[in-house]
Amino acid sequence: MGASPFNLKDDETYLRWRDRKLRNYPQKIEELLVEINDPRRLKKNEFEALLKRCRKTNMAFYAGSTGTDQDPEIPFSIGRRFGVFGLNKNLLADENSLTSLKLHEDGIKQHYIPYTTKNINWHTDGYYNPPNEQIYSMMLHSVQEAASGGVNSLLDHEVAYIKLRDENPEYIHTFMNPEVLSIPPRIGEQGIVARRTETGPVFSITATGKLHMRFTIRKKNVIWTDNSQTKAALCALRKILTSDSPYIFKLQLESGMGLLSNNVLHNRSAFGNDSDNVRHLYRSRYFERIKGT
Ligand SMILES: [Fe+2]
Repeated sequence: MGASPFNLKDDETYLRWRDRKLRNYPQKIEELLVEINDPRRLKKNEFEALLKRCRKTNMAFYAGSTGTDQDPEIPFSIGRRFGVFGLNKNLLADENSLTSLKLHEDGIKQHYIPYTTKNINWHTDGYYNPPNEQIYSMMLHSVQEAASGGVNSLLDHEVAYIKLRDENPEYIHTFMNPEVLSIPPRIGEQGIVARRTETGPVFSITATGKLHMRFTIRKKNVIWTDNSQTKAALCALRKILTSDSPYIFKLQLESGMGLLSNNVLHNRSAFGNDSDNVRHLYRSRYFERIKGT
């Protein structure tokens, strides 16, 4: 690796990048939120305001005027406008490749946490995907919020990288080990392997030199390399994620609101629906980063 902020041997480039990254870094969720009209027809100034935030923090939120409109064109338009096309159709996605995140009390989906009211712990999306199908961007659009809870916390993965490297560059070395994190196979019906073991690094560099993170904090169905370096790196990352750091943004996406992100670290708190407030989010995952970030 040559000159790169993510090359452990190149402190000079790293420190320059780090300073620029942290200078005027937003400290409040409001700084990341852009009021817009209709996400299907973004005005130039709305688009630019969102893109500017994505460039700085790898994420931005919009508050639009579409309310509880379920039109799938809303998330599709956002994807097109921000230059992402390779929509990842995962196992439980709808026919049109979007995923509708809502409570399912029966069928196969009830067995998957995203479709329950339970909290989802820190992760980036697609950590169980093969190396050539990593998720570089993830968008959410809220059709309706829950009666209570369902709050997302988010942390820019580049900030997580900085925190770790500043504490001990050895953590980064450990997390860049291509063997560090394995997800065991998923065995489907009749014992057939539905997804093979996926092994890879936590931090990797994309073809365009950007930082990508593949992570889950869950302890079940996850295999970490068994050594003291990995334990120490994991412990440091857990500490960052469970701190009340001003870099962690928290938000309940209300009707008409959405998130654009380069698949930053995130979690979800548990939630409760009532007869009028049934949480429904569209999620879309792409193989590209937001264009121009
Ligand atoms: Fe997620």
